[in-house]
Amino acid sequence: MPSIGESRDAPRHSIPVVDLFGFEKNSADTERVVRDVRSALRDVGFMYVTNIGPLTHSHVGEMIDLSRAFFARDENYKKQFGDSYGNMDVKTGKRKRALWTHWGYSSFGEERFEANKIDQKEVFDTAKDLLDPLYDLPSYPDEFQLKWNEFTQFHRLCHETTHVLYRAISLSLGLPASALAGKFQWDRDAGGEELRFLKYPQIPGDVLNESAGTDQSGLVRAGMHTDYGSVTLLFQQDVGGLEVYHHPSSTWINVPPPPQDTPRPWIVVNTCDLIEHWTRGLYCSTAHRVRMPRTAEENKERFSIAYFAHANDDVTLEAVGGEEVAKRMWDGKLAGLPGHHSWNEGTAHVEDPSKVTAIEWLCRRMGKTRTWKYSSDA
Ligand SMILES: [Fe+2]
Repeated sequence: MPSIGESRDAPRHSIPVVDLFGFEKNSADTERVVRDVRSALRDVGFMYVTNIGPLTHSHVGEMIDLSRAFFARDENYKKQFGDSYGNMDVKTGKRKRALWTHWGYSSFGEERFEANKIDQKEVFDTAKDLLDPLYDLPSYPDEFQLKWNEFTQFHRLCHETTHVLYRAISLSLGLPASALAGKFQWDRDAGGEELRFLKYPQIPGDVLNESAGTDQSGLVRAGMHTDYGSVTLLFQQDVGGLEVYHHPSSTWINVPPPPQDTPRPWIVVNTCDLIEHWTRGLYCSTAHRVRMPRTAEENKERFSIAYFAHANDDVTLEAVGGEEVAKRMWDGKLAGLPGHHSWNEGTAHVEDPSKVTAIEWLCRRMGKTRTWKYSSDA
């Protein structure tokens, strides 16, 4: 299996590239894909995938252009669309009304993954249920409304892409291809899934210096974290900075920008907390970050789009079947399992995974990373 990128320290590790060409079309390619997915997710938890689903470079480019246009607007305009997570009751994980939300604009520092480090990013979050005409839609920014069909189509295609991945992941666990498909059904509740647009601005010259790396500075483009859902798709163009923590070697692996001249886009895929639970730690929720630029040459605006696949609200963290998952030791916590990221306090506190639902899990994690607090009175 080819791979690109490498850790900055020996021993060197890299991000595997999984080519889904021929997957489920012929047995040789299907077997290769399943083997490569398994190896990538066991060893790194991150992979590039290509030749998957209908998404094209043009789809991605159009959404990056939309994102550029929105983030170029002034702060007052963007803040009209401020984030409003507060409709969820954090104690019960229940939505207080159908239109809960994980929606809207967040400015610098509103989401923090590391104590005392301020994320240098702006985001705009969108969620599936807020595209549903049955609900009273919030007013989306002009840039989204102008490209409404393209935007909603992109969202839906991301969802379809994750289901191709679910099939490959299920097969890699020795399960029927459809085993994970039922965990997130588009026609049910939103289940915490989200399409996020991100901008990391250029850093002012007086701030940019060699010490502005993530390890020393109080600034970071995105602090170290794991993702909360099932799998994440990340679309990025030609500006790098993403790094993945390789737990067995305690090194950071650089994730270079993907080539742009391929027939289909390369998508960065990582497995997240829910899959870590469902597989009892066999496939880890791997920590990652976006480091600060280290040189003037690296100091460019970075735009990316993340699709966070999740699970329907009532899906639990209970392990999926499969011989290898069943064999894994389980004491009710992930801590202590090989590859577990012990710094991630969120995953260390699940007494009975069969009693914790996906939406409760989402509340636990988000309650720790927002600068404001959830309120059951919101
Ligand atoms: Fe992430």
